[in-house]
Amino acid sequence: MGKVLVVYASRSGETEKIANLIAEGVRFTGNEAGVKNANDIKNESDLQGFDGYAFGSATYHGDMIQGMKTMLFLAEKAGLENKVGGGFGAFGWSGEAPDRIFDTMVNVFQMDMVSGPLRLKSSSLGGGIQMAQDYGKQIAQKL
Ligand SMILES: Cc1cc2nc3c(=O)[nH]c(=O)nc-3n(C[C@H](O)[C@H](O)[C@H](O)COP(=O)(O)O)c2cc1C
Repeated sequence: MGKVLVVYASRSGETEKIANLIAEGVRFTGNEAGVKNANDIKNESDLQGFDGYAFGSATYHGDMIQGMKTMLFLAEKAGLENKVGGGFGAFGWSGEAPDRIFDTMVNVFQMDMVSGPLRLKSSSLGGGIQMAQDYGKQIAQKL
C-alpha cells in the first residue's frame, strides 16, 4: 500500500475541499492519504516518507498563496525526485497557481507527474467532486 501526502494553501476553503476530495480518491483505491495545510509543513522532514504528493493553492492576483511558495522551497530539499506528483487549485478566472505548482514539481523537483494540473472553479460545480476524486485515483494508480 502506498502513501500520498496532499498539501494545500487556501484562504476561503475551496482548495482545502479539493485537497480532501483528492485524498478520498486515493483512499478509494486502498492506498493511504494524509492532508496538511502548507503552513503546517515546518521543515523538509515533514514531507518525507510518502510515495506520492499533491500540492495545491488557490490563485490570488495571478499568483499562488505565500504559504505554498514557502512550502515549495522546503520541498526542494526533501528529495522528491521520481516520486509521483500532481498539482491542483481553486480559481476564479485565470488560475495560474496550479500550473506554476505543477511546473515546479516537473522542472525543479523532477517528479513523475500525472497528465496535468487539476484546476477547479469550485468542487461543488460541474462535476467537481468527481473530478477531484478521480485526480486522487490517477495519482494512486501511478504509485
Ligand atoms: C482578492 C481576490 C483576488 C483573486 N485573484 C484571482 C486571480 O488572479 N485569478 C483567478 O483565477 N482567481 C482569482 N481569485 C478567485 C479565487 O481564486 C477563488 O475565489 C478561489 O475559489 C479561492 O480559493 P480558496 O477558497 O481556496 O482560497 C481572486 C479572489 C479574490 C477574493
